[in-house]
Amino acid sequence: MIEINLKEFKSKFKKEIDRIEELKQLDTLYRKYLGRKGEINKLFKNLKNFPEKKKKEFGEKLNLIKTEIEKEIQKKAEFIKKKIQQLKLEKEWLDVTRPGKKYEIGHLHPLTIVQREVLEIFQSMGFEVVEGPEVETEWYNFDALNIPRDHPARDMQDTLWIEQKRSLNPKFNFLMRTHTSPVQIRYMEKHNPPLRIVVPGRVFRNERTDATHDVQFYQLEGLMVDEDIQTSHFKAIIEEFLRRFFKKEIKIRLRPSFFPFTEPSFEIDVKEKGKNWMEMIGAGMVHPNVFKAAGLNPKNWQGFAFGIGLDRLAMLKYKINDIRLFYNNDLRFLKQF
Ligand code: DAH
Repeated sequence: MIEINLKEFKSKFKKEIDRIEELKQLDTLYRKYLGRKGEINKLFKNLKNFPEKKKKEFGEKLNLIKTEIEKEIQKKAEFIKKKIQQLKLEKEWLDVTRPGKKYEIGHLHPLTIVQREVLEIFQSMGFEVVEGPEVETEWYNFDALNIPRDHPARDMQDTLWIEQKRSLNPKFNFLMRTHTSPVQIRYMEKHNPPLRIVVPGRVFRNERTDATHDVQFYQLEGLMVDEDIQTSHFKAIIEEFLRRFFKKEIKIRLRPSFFPFTEPSFEIDVKEKGKNWMEMIGAGMVHPNVFKAAGLNPKNWQGFAFGIGLDRLAMLKYKINDIRLFYNNDLRFLKQF
């Protein structure tokens, strides 16, 4: 018979279970005490060596300890499982009040913003928006606008020609349009006056680039034709446009100039308070030869035409000093609009 101190036995178990932190260790402990060859079973087996009198008493005590140990292990198992669950929840916790990640969205190019603003103003004054091709014929770009071959005015605009065998007929020669003016002819061929149009579009010049010149830029052509149109009509409309675009009182002056497709021709200078005069717009009264080229009788119609550099307009509005910034796609620049 083995005398055993059940108190010590219990406290030894207690010490062991207290140190346990994982289910796997608990399983090992379970087997150590409650397994087939475990401590408790060993003690039960030992019972037969006890004298009859003590057997019953000791057996009852053993049973009690066995259930106690079972309960302790059960309790510990639940405790560990709960802790695991809690850790998991902590790790997976989601703060639904946290602000979301902002992702960047694009926005309009400054030239697009300016173009839309300009078109809206002219549309509100009854002008229709029209477009024309960027690859144009020599005829529409030059001849029909009273700029015949060998006319010195052609040198004003260095042209990018489409590679081809040059024909004697300007209608068969192609180029990148140097201005939006050819759309005047295209439109008047198909529409009878009275008419009011604006033509936004990209134009191309075979030029060296600098702060105010690029090989491509944007223009806005304007044309108004009716039976009795005068310079004063043009002045009133352009003044109204500039006032609404710059949102302040702006002085303008018409300066005599020369364009083959207008007679008289002038340039419009713009002046902000406290600043110098600045060249902004080419304009004039539509030349009789232009009406003729479009199939209209110049005796019946009068009109004014103008060409605005949209890039220049944007440069002035946003105080930008280099036209090339519009075309470099530098986000540091573009993000400012
Ligand atoms: N087409 C001219 C240019 O690109 C600008 C211009 C001047 C247009 C006078 C016009 C005009 O309609 O009347 O330089």
